Amino acid sequence: MTTPIRLALIGCGGIATNKHVTGYGLIKEQQPDLFNLVAVCDAATERAEAVADRAVAWGQERPRVYGDFEQLLRDGGVDAADICLPHFLHRPVGIACLEAGVHVQIEKPVGVTIKATRQLIEASKRSGAILATAEQIRRMPGPRTAHWAIHEKGMLGTPQVFFVQRANNRKVDPNMPWAWRFDRFLSGGGPVLDSGAHFCDTMRYLWGDCDSVYGSVRRLSEGTFVKGDERVPDMREDTFTALLNFKSGVTGTWTVINRPVADTFNTVMYYGSEGALNDPGDPFHGPRLTATLKRLDGSEHKLGDLYQQYLAAMSTDERERVFPYGLTDGFALEVCDFLHSIRDRRPPEIDGEQGLQAKAIACAIYEAAAANQVVRVQDVIDGTYDAYQRPIDERWGTN
Ligand SMILES: NC(=O)c1ccc[n+]([C@@H]2O[C@H](COP(=O)([O-])OP(=O)(O)OC[C@H]3O[C@@H](n4cnc5c(N)ncnc54)[C@H](O)[C@@H]3O)[C@@H](O)[C@H]2O)c1
Repeated sequence: MTTPIRLALIGCGGIATNKHVTGYGLIKEQQPDLFNLVAVCDAATERAEAVADRAVAWGQERPRVYGDFEQLLRDGGVDAADICLPHFLHRPVGIACLEAGVHVQIEKPVGVTIKATRQLIEASKRSGAILATAEQIRRMPGPRTAHWAIHEKGMLGTPQVFFVQRANNRKVDPNMPWAWRFDRFLSGGGPVLDSGAHFCDTMRYLWGDCDSVYGSVRRLSEGTFVKGDERVPDMREDTFTALLNFKSGVTGTWTVINRPVADTFNTVMYYGSEGALNDPGDPFHGPRLTATLKRLDGSEHKLGDLYQQYLAAMSTDERERVFPYGLTDGFALEVCDFLHSIRDRRPPEIDGEQGLQAKAIACAIYEAAAANQVVRVQDVIDGTYDAYQRPIDERWGTN
C-alpha cells in the first residue's frame, strides 16, 4: 500500500479532457491507490468542473476546482502537476510548480522556445522536482515494435534513409477553440513544432541524436481567415521540407503540405541495408501496426504480427516496464510513467532534457530556414542560431 500521489491537472482543454483524463481513468481501474486527482484548474472553470465530475466517477473525492493556478499552488497539498496549457504558459506555470517542489509533466513541446525549455530544466535541477515531457507516440505498440524490430532483431539491417511526406487537404475552421495556435508568439510555431514534436521525438527514439538539419518553412496559402467580422491572422507555416542528418548516419527528408490542395498523399518509408518499413499512414503519429516491413530475402512482415512476437519475447519485468498493467494507450502509458517515476524516485523515460533534444530538431528547422543554411542542432540549443526564436523570447522576457 503506497500513499496516493496528490495530482493536479492544470489546463482542462482538448488534450487534457480527451486523452489525459481518460488515461488517468484507465490507471485508476488498475491501481486505485497510485494517485488521487486532488485539484483541477482551467481559466474556463466549467472545463475544470467537468473533469472534477469525471474524477468522482472513479470513486475518489471530488478534486478542488480552480481558475487560477497560483491560488492552487498557494493552497498546497499537491505532489505533482500535469500541465496541458498553451505553449507560452508552459514555462511560467511549470517553473512556479517546480519552485513549489511539485513534480511536473508538461505537454510537448516543453517550452515555447529553447531558452524557455532550458529555464524549465534549470528550475527542475534547482528544486529536485521531476520535469517530464508528455509524449505518447513512442510508447504506443507501433513505434515500440518498430524499435524492437530494427534494433533488437536487426530487420532493416543498418538503418540508412527515411522519407516522411504528407500533403494534407487542411481547411481551417475559424471556430476552433484552440486559436492560440495561430499566433506564433503563443504557440512558438506551426506543425513543425506542434504535431512535429511527435515526429522529432520518434525519429530520435529510432535513430538517436540528430546532428544537423536544413529546412525550408513557408506559408503559401492565405495568411488570414474570416471569423465573423474579424480577419484573424494565421501565422503558422503551411508548407515545409527538411533534411535531417543523424549522428548514427541515418539521413531523411520530412516534407509536409498542410493547406488546401488538389490531391493528397502520405508516405512513411524507413530504409536500411536489408529491409524497408512502409507505413502509408500518418507521418506525425506512426509507425502504426498496419505498417509492412519487407526484407531483401523476400519476406514480408506486418508490424502487427511483429508486435505479437515482441510481446512473446519480453520478460515479465520488461512487459510491466513498457506496458504496465497491460496498458497500450499511449496517453495512459505516458501519464503512468510520470506517476511511476514519482513513486519509484527515478527519472521519467522522457525528461525535460529528452524533450529539449526533440524540440531542438524542430527549432533547428526554423533556424536553418531563417539562416538559409545547414545548422547543427547543438548550435541551436546553445543559442548560436536564434533568429526565428529571438522575437518570441523577447516577447516573454526569456532571452
Ligand atoms: N500529445 C498530443 O497528441 C497533443 C495533442 C493536442 C495538444 N497537445 C498539447 O497539449 C497542450 C494543450 O493543447 P490543447 O489542444 O489541449 O489546447 P486547448 O486550447 O484545447 O486547451 C488549453 C486549455 O488551457 C486553458 N487555459 C488557458 N490559459 C490558462 C490559464 N492562464 N490558466 C488556466 N487555464 C488556462 C484554456 O481555457 C484551455 O481549456 C499543448 O502543449 C499541445 O501542444 C498534445
